[in-house]
Amino acid sequence: MDITFLLNGESVDLHNVSPTVTLLDWLREDRGLTGTKEGCNEGDCGACTVMVTDASGVRALNACILFLPQLDGCAVRTVEGISGPDGTLHPVQDAMIDNHGSQCGFCTPGFIVSMAVAHLKGSRDHDNALAGNLCRCTGYAPIIRAAEAAKDAPVPDWMKDTPPGLSAPETLDELATAYAERPDATLIAGATDVGLWVTKSLRNLDDVIFLNRCQELQRIDTSQDSLRIGAGVTMNRVMDAVQADYPSYAEMIRRYGSEQVRAAATIGGNIANGSPIGDNPPALIALGAILHLRAGDHRRDMPVEEFFIEYGKQDRARGEFVEAVTLPLGEQAFRAYKLSKRFDQDISAVCGAFNIRVESGKVADARIAFGGMAGTPKRATAVEAALTGADWSEKTVRAATAKMAEAFTPLSDMRASADYRLQAAQNMLLRYWHEDQGLNINVLEVPA
Ligand SMILES: Cc1cc2nc3c(=O)[nH]c(=O)nc-3n(C[C@H](O)[C@H](O)[C@H](O)COP(=O)(O)OP(=O)(O)OC[C@H]3O[C@@H](n4cnc5c(N)ncnc54)[C@H](O)[C@@H]3O)c2cc1C
Ligand code: FES
Ligand code: FES
Repeated sequence: MDITFLLNGESVDLHNVSPTVTLLDWLREDRGLTGTKEGCNEGDCGACTVMVTDASGVRALNACILFLPQLDGCAVRTVEGISGPDGTLHPVQDAMIDNHGSQCGFCTPGFIVSMAVAHLKGSRDHDNALAGNLCRCTGYAPIIRAAEAAKDAPVPDWMKDTPPGLSAPETLDELATAYAERPDATLIAGATDVGLWVTKSLRNLDDVIFLNRCQELQRIDTSQDSLRIGAGVTMNRVMDAVQADYPSYAEMIRRYGSEQVRAAATIGGNIANGSPIGDNPPALIALGAILHLRAGDHRRDMPVEEFFIEYGKQDRARGEFVEAVTLPLGEQAFRAYKLSKRFDQDISAVCGAFNIRVESGKVADARIAFGGMAGTPKRATAVEAALTGADWSEKTVRAATAKMAEAFTPLSDMRASADYRLQAAQNMLLRYWHEDQGLNINVLEVPA
């Protein structure tokens, strides 16, 4: 595989690149750029954060789960390229010194890159921008103070990269043909799952197809009453796209991984991996979303819930890929809730999505789906049946929560016990009821 990209402002051409060498390993071992640190090697700590610019804009990404070929046509800046060519410090670096934002310094390069990207984008939500960077010794207050102190400084000229662009981006037709011809190839979208197969499970991937070259897969098409999201759209873009109609869905995505993970992870990868604890599927199922699949020239559609057959088994044939998902807009009754051990950047223990339509005081229609309650993302059919046709009252809701045990037999694992999951799912339905009645249920707004 031959690739071209800019590294700290200088052009790099590489030939016969191994498809699964990570940017982190290449930077440290081949280029001697050891400012980018390796902490967890699984996307959790942000020590390896780099800045990547492509046609869609600038992003902070974790180099440990970024394969080198994903950078073809991009501009990359490591911590060594955040200060100017003559050694002038970036305003966030000056501010970190002034505010004592570094002690042992191991996490500092990652923080500096995340801060510089947020600064370039004009982001003022420092907590959000830095939720994916872990610091064990300084404490976050001085670092946040530094980000705040630097926020109004002009962006240095050297930070404005112009990526070379892909010489020949793939079309959807080319992708479909390539996958039909090589159905055993591993598709790689954001690599936030596949990256770990390589860095943690030490798997060899013989043949891979990178989806990020296909711009048609990254389209979002909005009509008056629906949103069609291409499989290659990142979670940060999904978050923006659903914000107006479904703020609770957007808020759930805000807690999906970190800024770095959301900037890489795609909605197609989150559906296709079939995880029972993926955050998108419950929301999409409760919304009645439709999945679009393609194999060669053949396309087919199905409700998202039908895609998940059983744990580890999805309704996807060899050579078939997820092309897009379409969800309706304007479902007023929709709400989604995520419960995880850590508030930011944690996989859900339970994720619930509710879409309960009430007409003339009675439940006309109920779609309720959960992640973390079974081997697949799944509808709570017994609960839906108990609600449908009944008066919309607390009594009905409490009676319906009792049906949760009929709908699910959850597992116990390191994230939660089966009993805890069952009770959390019941409480989410009650939470939905209380929110519908106007009670403030946001844990960030409830006073002590
Ligand atoms: C630190 C960290 C935090 C995370 N936090 C969350 C979280 O809060 N919530 C959550 O749900 N997930 C989370 N994840 C998991 C992961 O980010 C998601 O599952 C992500 O959406 C996967 O998308 P991707 O583009 O990175 O997929 P990839 O890793 O590229 O691919 C995942 C799988 O899907 C297949 N695939 C990808 N695209 C397609 C397609 N178009 N058609 C068919 N198959 C395809 C791949 O072959 C592979 O089997 C986290 C991961 C990390 C590393
Ligand atoms: S080394 Fe921890 S996120 Fe990359
Ligand atoms: S300064 Fe030591 S881990 Fe952050």
